[in-house]
Amino acid sequence: MCGIIGYVGEKEACPLLLSALKRMEYRGYDSSGVVVVGDKARCVKSVGKLDNLKEKLEDLPGGLGLGHNRWATHGVVSEENAHPHTDCKGDIFVVHNGIIENYKELKSKLQEEGHVFVSETDTEVLSHLIEKFFEGDLESAVKKALKLVKGAYGVVAATGSDPYKIVAARMFSPLVVSVNSSGGFVASDPTALISHSREMVFLEDEEVAVISKDDFYITDLDNVAVEKEKTEIDWSIEDAQKGGYDHFMLKEICQQGESLENSIRGRLDLEEGRAVLGGVEDKKEEIIRAKKVSIIACGTSYYAGMVGECMIEEMAGVPVEVHLASEFKYKKQPLEEGEIFIFISQSGETAYTLASLREVKEKGGLTLGIVNVVGSSVARETHAGIYNHAGPEIGVASTKAFTSQSIILALFALYMGRNKGMSFEEGVNFAKEIKRIPRIADEILESKEEISEIAKKYKDYSNFLYLGRKYSYPVALEGALKLKEISYIHAEGYSAGEMKHGPIALIEESFPTFAVCPQSSVYGKMLSNIEEIKARRGKMVALGTRGDDEIAEMVDDVIYMPEVLEQLSSIVSVIPLQIFSYYVALYKGLDVDKPRNLSKCVSVE
Ligand code: G6P
Repeated sequence: MCGIIGYVGEKEACPLLLSALKRMEYRGYDSSGVVVVGDKARCVKSVGKLDNLKEKLEDLPGGLGLGHNRWATHGVVSEENAHPHTDCKGDIFVVHNGIIENYKELKSKLQEEGHVFVSETDTEVLSHLIEKFFEGDLESAVKKALKLVKGAYGVVAATGSDPYKIVAARMFSPLVVSVNSSGGFVASDPTALISHSREMVFLEDEEVAVISKDDFYITDLDNVAVEKEKTEIDWSIEDAQKGGYDHFMLKEICQQGESLENSIRGRLDLEEGRAVLGGVEDKKEEIIRAKKVSIIACGTSYYAGMVGECMIEEMAGVPVEVHLASEFKYKKQPLEEGEIFIFISQSGETAYTLASLREVKEKGGLTLGIVNVVGSSVARETHAGIYNHAGPEIGVASTKAFTSQSIILALFALYMGRNKGMSFEEGVNFAKEIKRIPRIADEILESKEEISEIAKKYKDYSNFLYLGRKYSYPVALEGALKLKEISYIHAEGYSAGEMKHGPIALIEESFPTFAVCPQSSVYGKMLSNIEEIKARRGKMVALGTRGDDEIAEMVDDVIYMPEVLEQLSSIVSVIPLQIFSYYVALYKGLDVDKPRNLSKCVSVE
């Protein structure tokens, strides 16, 4: 959720903090703030996007600083509630991501002791708690304070009385440390640090890092030293920039040919018709013996899981159940014999996905990850996994992560299938079709302008129904999610077969439908649903396979895509829906990359 940066070094802290906050703006943009410690500590905060803060900034000299982009949890969006938060004397400064669950109890105790609070946030208890224990040693005060705290935190603290040190600690909320030639850094997100170094150290829960300009050490809350390995981030600063596109979302949509290629590179044995998945090879025997696959994820990753469900069941003949992590965590579902678990997460830091993963591990289940961010919590904590290699995804609305997750699930279906009775011929054919997918994505992207014209026609509707069946059902759900996320149009994704059980009641001229209808085993059934909507004068856009004239006669607008194997169709049929949403939001004049109330990484429960 919130973006956190801390710096200590010989350079001026303020510009470094601002450029890191800019890179992390997608994590939260309700308000932002910085504190810089030089001859004294100076703190500036502002509501709204980072540009508002920049306008307010005067010279903030000093080589130590903290910065924060807020995604509000406790307390309205206001300057008082913006981070950094400070103590009664204005000497201790804290930036925090997460939720302090026992903050009310801590706050009233601190108030009884005379501490004066100025914000409604849970975070402010941290600055006052640290103040309470501070006797000149920030590290020890932070540790004492955190021992009293329940909940989740990625927290970085500094004091105006020590311009040489920052202290960072993690509990359920990611933090990454890098000490390099520019100085010592800590951030909630590797994206913030990639311009300084690719080598980073990820903190684990209950670890505390003490960072100075040229060194750092890590201990637990009881002062026991912890040895850590560095992780090499496999993407560069160019990957985290817009590269000439108007928005990150557009860049990420347009990159999908390349990101899909990266996801399958070196993982397809076309001659043997097999998938080569080195990251799970150690667990091959358990995967082959699996009697059931459970997939757990949130948001767009959950819909990719539904795509995986269809593929694995059809290609590998193994039953699959897909769970929303936020529900799974509370279900207390018993593990079945031979059940294996796949956790899908772009960020690798989604709180519920991580919590579910920990629960499954505790119960003894085999956990596999499909994760984009190298070194993230889900990647580190699963027994084995497959990285997406899709490059950083910055646009809040996920696009290339979905297609990458889906193609990796296709690889996994092939991997499992060929070890479970899928024939050589079937394997070779499936592998060849997977190999074609990146080029098909590129072909679809050529229709961008046409789709943008269609989007212009539909931008003023207030509602939208998305329909699909089988492989197109998760695509309909994802298409509806994209539209509501960035254009704020109410959109519902539905299985077309369910339409007559309710949603058809909504259909009238002012309630358009988007039918995801490429050639498939359920094509005829989809056409019947389209007829039913037309009979009620509903406006319709359809996604069909190139050459399908029949559908063009039935609907108001048609978008064509090339022919593709039905089992792989979801990977690419989602792309026109992403483009459609992008342009609808653009024509409505909305901030595509930073839609209201959303955050790229939901790291609190
Ligand atoms: C947030 C993001 C979505 C993402 C979901 C799950 O809601 O805005 O784009 O799909 O979290 O995130 P994950 O990183 O676990 O895939």
